[in-house]
Amino acid sequence: MFETLTAPAPDKIFQLTGQFAADPRPGKVDLLVGLYRNADGVTPVMGAVKEAERRILEAQTTKAYLGFAGDAAFISGMRDLLLADAVPEARIAGIATVGGTSAMRQILELVRTLTPDAQVWVSDPSWPIHAGMTDHLGLARRSYRYLDRNTNGLDRDGMMDDLRNARAGDVIVLHGCCHNPTGADLTLADWEEVAAICLKTGAIPLVDMAYQGFGAGLVEDAAGTRLLAQKVPTLFLAASCSKNFGLYRERAGVALIATSEGARAAAQGHLTAMNRNNFSFPPDHGARCVDLILHDADLRQMWDAELTAMRDSMTRNRRALADALRAETGSDRFGFFAAHQGMFSLIGASPAQVAALREDHGIYVVGDGRMNVAGLTVDNIPKVARGLAAVLG
Ligand code: LMR
Repeated sequence: MFETLTAPAPDKIFQLTGQFAADPRPGKVDLLVGLYRNADGVTPVMGAVKEAERRILEAQTTKAYLGFAGDAAFISGMRDLLLADAVPEARIAGIATVGGTSAMRQILELVRTLTPDAQVWVSDPSWPIHAGMTDHLGLARRSYRYLDRNTNGLDRDGMMDDLRNARAGDVIVLHGCCHNPTGADLTLADWEEVAAICLKTGAIPLVDMAYQGFGAGLVEDAAGTRLLAQKVPTLFLAASCSKNFGLYRERAGVALIATSEGARAAAQGHLTAMNRNNFSFPPDHGARCVDLILHDADLRQMWDAELTAMRDSMTRNRRALADALRAETGSDRFGFFAAHQGMFSLIGASPAQVAALREDHGIYVVGDGRMNVAGLTVDNIPKVARGLAAVLG
């Protein structure tokens, strides 16, 4: 069966991790995969998660199946974290999923099942799986302009002009905050505009929320999504607990649909059937940790403080890199590092420049020029600034 086939292209984000591990140079810098790293370069298990795990280990008496939708308390905790009181509970359907990626997958597969002619609008650029998954499912894909490559900020007019071409039933994929890979986010006025476009065209927004709490704060990062949820008749929401709870490999996430009260039961039934047909039961361990953290005042406080420390460290890294580049180049052209939000910035490098950073300076960024700012440290920032200035300056 496979004799005549070639392997698909390797994943763009994970492709270089093997090469990084094999690189013998002592000062090499890993700015690749979206993993938070502390000042020692470690991706820690959060203290609140450790404590939740301890309690689970002590109290759990069975591993019997839960429902296909997953743990109801986890889903309602995530619903409150994401949407607060923007939409009444009676209008929201939800399932636990295998991380945020499978939340995207369940929603897009549901779209294909129910409205196979829908087009899926993906920002240019975006997290590669948005396009990859859409193509994999055989859905028609359209792209909308997103980044102004001169300023490294949002191309607002280009984005809105493109989205005005969406048709009724099309799906518009939006990054809730901390846009991956660019780091350039929408303002509340931009979210208002997107809502108006959805109302006018009948397109349905699908918000991918993978970094809530990594931008400006838990509430601030959800403000655009909440605004949208209040305005549009249907909202799809895919959320991940990988980054803000540091649960990466445990695979915890939710897929939510905010719809009318009358349509909620049908939406819930379709989501639940999607889980049953794809993997029956979502994983429970990570979801249970999140449930405990969100519903216990002490754990919640501990988690909030840890999340704030992670966010502050990324913000400090951004400012320190922008300052070091200003000193290195005598210009403000890298000021965008400080203006961007979250884990990533697109540094504006060609593939040849990305290779030069790697080969000449031992600085590893993803092939499209995406840098994980959580990989910066006080020690490596001067080296990274020198490398960037030499290659891009
Ligand atoms: C990333 O963008 O680096 C992370 O979300 C990891 C992934 O699954 O791609």
